[in-house]
Amino acid sequence: MTSLSNKPTGWFQIGWSTDLAPGDVKPLRYFGTDLVAYRDHDGAAHVMDAHCRHLGAHLGHGGCVVDGGLQCPFHGWVWDDQGNNVRIPYQDRPSKVLMRTWPVHEWNGVLSLWHDRDGKPPFFEPHGSLTDIAPHLDGLSFHPAGTGSQSRFTPSRVHPQMVVENAVDPAHFAFVHHTPTIPCVLQEDVTATSWHSKVGFGGRWKDAVDRPEDDLGTLHLSFRGMGMGYNALTDAERVMMVLIAATPVEDDGTTEVFGTYWPQELPTDAQTGAHLERIAQAKEALPEDLTIWEHQLFRAAPALATSEGAGWRKMRDWCEVFYPEGELSPQRLRDLLP
Ligand code: FES
Ligand SMILES: [Fe+2]
Repeated sequence: MTSLSNKPTGWFQIGWSTDLAPGDVKPLRYFGTDLVAYRDHDGAAHVMDAHCRHLGAHLGHGGCVVDGGLQCPFHGWVWDDQGNNVRIPYQDRPSKVLMRTWPVHEWNGVLSLWHDRDGKPPFFEPHGSLTDIAPHLDGLSFHPAGTGSQSRFTPSRVHPQMVVENAVDPAHFAFVHHTPTIPCVLQEDVTATSWHSKVGFGGRWKDAVDRPEDDLGTLHLSFRGMGMGYNALTDAERVMMVLIAATPVEDDGTTEVFGTYWPQELPTDAQTGAHLERIAQAKEALPEDLTIWEHQLFRAAPALATSEGAGWRKMRDWCEVFYPEGELSPQRLRDLLP
């Protein structure tokens, strides 16, 4: 079966800040590559290829954070956060060989890395502020993403593109998430690498006309690339922010899916614990999507309803930029069809 490339370019979640305390060293595997993640004593998180350039030991199994970088457990060579060898304990000069390092981003309790199949540097920024997600989040405070606000599904077969395609798929809300009516897209703001839509739910938005200062009963969806999809759902009680992220693991289509939940912080929460209830509720939606996504066949040329055509064409064109040359993108898959 032919399917989409599992080597898209962009920012992809690899876990949460709580996974990595200062001094922690952990093995990871994404994009068909063994990796090591560590947090230095100044608090910065780093990721590099796992296998030492000396004799190939895995730095994620027994490596340790020392002054100046990460020390290999086999012969003690030390690698700094740029991948330079800075120390060979039994020689006066370090080696000139380099380890490959991966750009890491950490914001709001989420750890992500930049993947480019050819090792090129980032060409767009990940989300780094609440207003990057939706303008009306400016100035609001949210409960932090502690372990109770995290879900992880591994191994999975959910391709990142399936997650972002939700933005042009209002009909699924009624069937998968049991909303009483099909919502409508009120606003779409798309650049070469970002996608923002505002979707309206219920009678309040039945005329499908946006009112810019009104966010009650809306869902804002915000993507930077296809790896990480933020959602901000606003109801009469509060804003609920959710991140759904799918990260490729192996070339065979294996991925890992992350859900992160931030309820807006209300003064009464400490007393009522209502925010915990909201997290529990919000966590129910992702498995509903996963049941579909896990078994879904990616159709390069889907049969669409009349109202769906324009949105899907726009979304699939937008996704093309994240596939490196030679990899199977939606466009190239369509070209293969008889
Ligand atoms: S394998 Fe890493 S120092 Fe020898
Ligand atoms: Fe959904």
